[in-house]
Amino acid sequence: MKNEEDVIYFITTNKYKFNEIKKLFENEKIPYQLKQLNLETIEIQTESVKENASFKLNNAKSKVNCSCFVEDAGFFVDDPLNGFPGLYSSYVFKTIGNEGILRLINNFKQSKAHFIAIIALFFKPLNKDFLFEGRVEGRVSERIKGSRGFGFDPIFIPNKIHNKTFAELKIEEKNKISHRGKAWKEMIKFLKKN
Ligand code: IMP
Repeated sequence: MKNEEDVIYFITTNKYKFNEIKKLFENEKIPYQLKQLNLETIEIQTESVKENASFKLNNAKSKVNCSCFVEDAGFFVDDPLNGFPGLYSSYVFKTIGNEGILRLINNFKQSKAHFIAIIALFFKPLNKDFLFEGRVEGRVSERIKGSRGFGFDPIFIPNKIHNKTFAELKIEEKNKISHRGKAWKEMIKFLKKN
């Protein structure tokens, strides 16, 4: 039986996010056991993804007595939408969805977009919070493609993969280049050192 000190909770209701992180976790030799805590966290309208992640963590960490983290992400269409939906990603996905985003774009080849992910970790042994960031650049696909992943995955083509959306990639492939994968790698470096 593991002690609570050996457990790190990923506090999320999003099973896709948990599965992505779980896959990454499995490949690492770190003395923690990853568990999902399916807890709704409070979202606020803030100026940055970082601020939102820190806010979510502050609310969530009082509910567990061990190390835990939350993750907050955003999808930014830089050209031609000047970063929209950005901090409104969740709301925009629920309202106009991927079809709605595509209707706002004319020149897909010229489009530019990125994802940002912030992992906010409460690290019990040091009794302190830490932030880890990841970012991936790409463009918008002219049509919805692929059946894997979630959210904006079917309309995002990362620069590193020729003409495939995130939703056409296996979890392992997405993790290698994704915003979440990169934030995670930063956190793993930290966990291995501490
Ligand atoms: P959240 O607030 O971090 O859950 O994410 C904001 C919005 O971005 C939600 O609509 C998610 O579906 C979407 N999103 C977050 N991460 C990803 C991703 O890795 N791929 C596609 N969409 C994502």
